[in-house]
Amino acid sequence: MSVKDPAVIVNFKVYSEIEGEKSLSLAEICNRVADESGANIIVCPPMVELSYVADQVEIPVFSQNVDPRKPGSGTGFTTPSLVKAAGATGTLINHSEHKQPADDVGACVQMCKDLGITTCVCADTVDIAADLARFSPYYIAVEPPELIGGDISVTSANPAVVSGTVDAVKTVDKGIKVLCGAGVKNGGDVKAAIDLGAEGVLLASGVVKAKDPESVIRDLIRDI
Ligand code: G3P
Repeated sequence: MSVKDPAVIVNFKVYSEIEGEKSLSLAEICNRVADESGANIIVCPPMVELSYVADQVEIPVFSQNVDPRKPGSGTGFTTPSLVKAAGATGTLINHSEHKQPADDVGACVQMCKDLGITTCVCADTVDIAADLARFSPYYIAVEPPELIGGDISVTSANPAVVSGTVDAVKTVDKGIKVLCGAGVKNGGDVKAAIDLGAEGVLLASGVVKAKDPESVIRDLIRDI
């Protein structure tokens, strides 16, 4: 599959602000802005709302995680097959808050590819991103953990990690699209990410915890 660049992936995480019906409300806002603007906005609701949200919006819905498990006995795990059946078209893998061993990341990527699920593999550092590029996921998102949830965007606090990841990942596989995240809050941060060679952003708190998420989303995409 292919999707338009740049991508703005909004990870809802498990914040109280998106519990229950509020996940759908936020996804509908993202859907409306994407529809009006043509921007590629992707939402990652929490697992328990995945199917409910995916049934009701047109924009891509990604899972926040998958486990490298086949259908069968595996209580509490999230199989790629379940995610696809829920209506998700993609998934995060190895988020900084939900890390997996590298071999599991590779297994998840392969299982998702076999099912036609778009993969976004997260990495804390340039070196980890370069290593995980051997699995050729669709996206690699670099997110320095110390900046996650903070007020300073990775593009200002550590621009070298963004440009360095772009260079390192493209050296391994130039087809992988590189995203960056951590502290991204506004359209200026998104523009800076693109100027550094990224093909989009992965963000959470700037949207999910905003008083007026719609105006934040409109601002995020203002220059793309
Ligand atoms: O998955 C997105 C993420 O970890 C960045 O979070 O709150 O810094 O935008 P945040």
